[in-house]
This record gives sequence, C-alpha cells and structure tokens, in this order.
Amino acid sequence: MTTLVTGASGFIGSHLVSSLAARGEEVRVLARPSSDLGSLAGLGVAVVRGDLSDPKSLREAAADVRVIYHCAALASDWGPWADFVRANVGGVASLLDAAVAAGTVERFVHVSTTDVYGYPRRVPEESGPRRDVGLAYNRSKILGELLVEECHRRTGLPTTIVRPVTVFGERSQPFAVEIGRLLLAGQMPLIGGGTVRAGLIYVADLVDAMITAAIAPQAVGQAYNLRDPEDMTWRQFIVGYADGLGISRRLRTVPEPLAVAGAHIMERTYRAMGRKERPLLTHLAVKVMTRDQGYPISRAQRDLGFAPRVGLEGGQQRTIEWLLSPEGQAAIAAEDPPGG
Ligand SMILES: NC(=O)c1ccc[n+]([C@@H]2O[C@H](COP(=O)([O-])OP(=O)(O)OC[C@H]3O[C@@H](n4cnc5c(N)ncnc54)[C@H](OP(=O)(O)O)[C@@H]3O)[C@@H](O)[C@H]2O)c1
Repeated sequence: MTTLVTGASGFIGSHLVSSLAARGEEVRVLARPSSDLGSLAGLGVAVVRGDLSDPKSLREAAADVRVIYHCAALASDWGPWADFVRANVGGVASLLDAAVAAGTVERFVHVSTTDVYGYPRRVPEESGPRRDVGLAYNRSKILGELLVEECHRRTGLPTTIVRPVTVFGERSQPFAVEIGRLLLAGQMPLIGGGTVRAGLIYVADLVDAMITAAIAPQAVGQAYNLRDPEDMTWRQFIVGYADGLGISRRLRTVPEPLAVAGAHIMERTYRAMGRKERPLLTHLAVKVMTRDQGYPISRAQRDLGFAPRVGLEGGQQRTIEWLLSPEGQAAIAAEDPPGG
C-alpha cells in the first residue's frame, strides 16, 4: 500500500521521499501545480497535483494510503497571518478529514516544531505547555497540533506529532544556503554572541526518526521533540560553515536588545511596505538564536530508539560539500524566493 508525503518539493519532504524510495516504498506525493519536483527526479514517485486549500485534491491524494507524512506547511518567520491559517490550520484540518475518509490510514505523522513551546527560559519535555507568544508561524503550528490531537481523540485516527528543533542539511534554505550567502557577504549576524545551544538535527537523522515514528506502536497519540543529542552553540555551527567554506570567521555580533529593536523596526517597515521577502531580522529568528534550544529528547530515545546515524559533524560536512557543489553554489547565487 502507498505512503503519502505532503511538502515533497520542500526541504524535509524531499529528503524523506528519497529515503522512503530507497527503502522500496511505494510513494505518492501531493504537490502544487507550481511545485518544483526536480529533486525527486528518477525516484519513481506518483504525483497528485493539488493544494492544502483544495480538500478535493487531498482526498484524491489520501485514497488507499497506509501512512501519511504531513510535511507541507508555510514554514517561515515571515508572512501574513491569513496565509499561515490557510496552510497550517485549514490545511491540517482538510488533510485529517481526507485521512479519516480514506479509511486505510494506519499512521498520520504530523511535522510540527518546538517553536510551539514559545521559548521558555527552561526547555520543557513534551508534556510542557504550548505557549502562544504572538508569532504567526508558532500560533498556526499550535493550532495545527490541537487539530491533530482532537482528531485522534474523536476518530481514533492513529496520529504521531514530531517536533524537530532546527533542521539543516543539503537544500536547506535558512540553515545552509542563507548562512552561506551571509557569510560570503560578511553580513552573518550572531545575535547575543551565539552562545546558547542551537538545538540542531541533520535532516537524514530526522527522516530516520520520522520513519521509525510511523511504525512504532507506542508512538500513537504521542508527540516527540527531536534534535541531535550533541550540544552545539550557534557560534560553533556558523563557524563550522565558515571554516568548511573557507570564508573568514568575521561575524557581526549583535547584542540581543539591539537585535530585538532591529527586528521590531524591520518587521514594521516591511509590513507597512507590504514586502513579501523576509527581513534580515525577525522576532522569531531573534528568539531562536537567543533562547536555549536544547530540548529534552528522552521520550524519542525511549520510544523510538532515537540515536542519530550521521550526527552534527557528519551532517555539516555533507552540507558543506553540497554548498560547494554546482547545485549549492547556484542556490547561494540565486535570489531569495518571496516569503523566505
Ligand atoms: N526546516 C526546519 O528547520 C524545521 C524545523 C521545525 C519544524 N519544521 C517543519 O517541518 C515541515 C517542513 O518544513 P521545510 O523546512 O521542509 O519547509 P519548506 O522547505 O518550506 O517546504 C514546505 C513544503 O510545503 C509545501 N506547501 C506549502 N504550502 C502549501 C500548500 N498550500 N499546498 C500544498 N503544499 C504546500 C511547499 O510546496 P511548494 O514547493 O509548492 O512551495 C513545500 O513542498 C513544516 O511543517 C515546518 O513547520 C521545519
């Protein structure tokens, strides 16, 4: 029976599809008419063209499916609230409806984020409260999780929520391409000195954990924080890129209060001007770079036997090799897509 992946043209979804295809799984993807599926060429996946805001296309995509990995989302620290609602709330509701209607779905893996915790001073276990701190992306991901939990309770659909921290790897726009671009331009800001734990996971290690989560019986109805158990600060991570790319370690250290003020001004100005591309500083980026992101992962270690195969050093090495490849160089040279 088929496995459905949404968001397969995106960063995490494309790596997941490659891994599933390599395991011999029959994969179907939901992609928008405009989605670039170039990274899936030759993998032999079936494509259903549709959109999270088109319930009919979601029912078609979910028909006769055994496992759904829901990776599609508006994953950005910038954008109008209405767009976040459409993709990350309405889209989740419609896909859950389609999964229930299919009647064949044995697991619905929903990709959420540790941003739902709202960056408390002490990083919580999964049982910790979700906190709405007024950021559009985070709020929409909280509402998406609530829908998943409600559907599980109401219909018995076997759901599992995964909450990765920061995911990096080949083709990551924010955590590979943009960092490379800013380093090259001598404009990489290191907010608050970059001394907090960054909470990182290499994409192939995340994908392994997601595939395990989809089959582990004890994962039904659960949520899992996912990050590499090795602690690495933002400074270490960014210096790792600079060294690997042979670029000067010149980083622009920005004190946290200045970064908060900068994010405030930039967001207000961009909003007033209706600009679609993300500003250099946003409130979300400042929080992620200044609050400890070392979320506990003991639940994933216990239930999923989570232990990264590649790890941070190996993952960053692979990512640097990709950034130095013609594809990576072209990505660095390209303009940012609108919306970040
Ligand atoms: N990357 C991270 O560090 C990170 C960390 C924590 C959680 N997450 C979560 O992981 C998931 C995947 O993130 P990502 O980094 O892979 O994001 P991404 O690279 O931006 O990919 C997003 C995917 O969603 C698709 N999509 C967006 N809106 C859609 C719509 N209305 N209908 C159908 N498809 C739509 C995009 O399709 P197009 O190609 O057509 O745009 C793309 O395939 C998200 O749920 C995100 O919240 C990511």
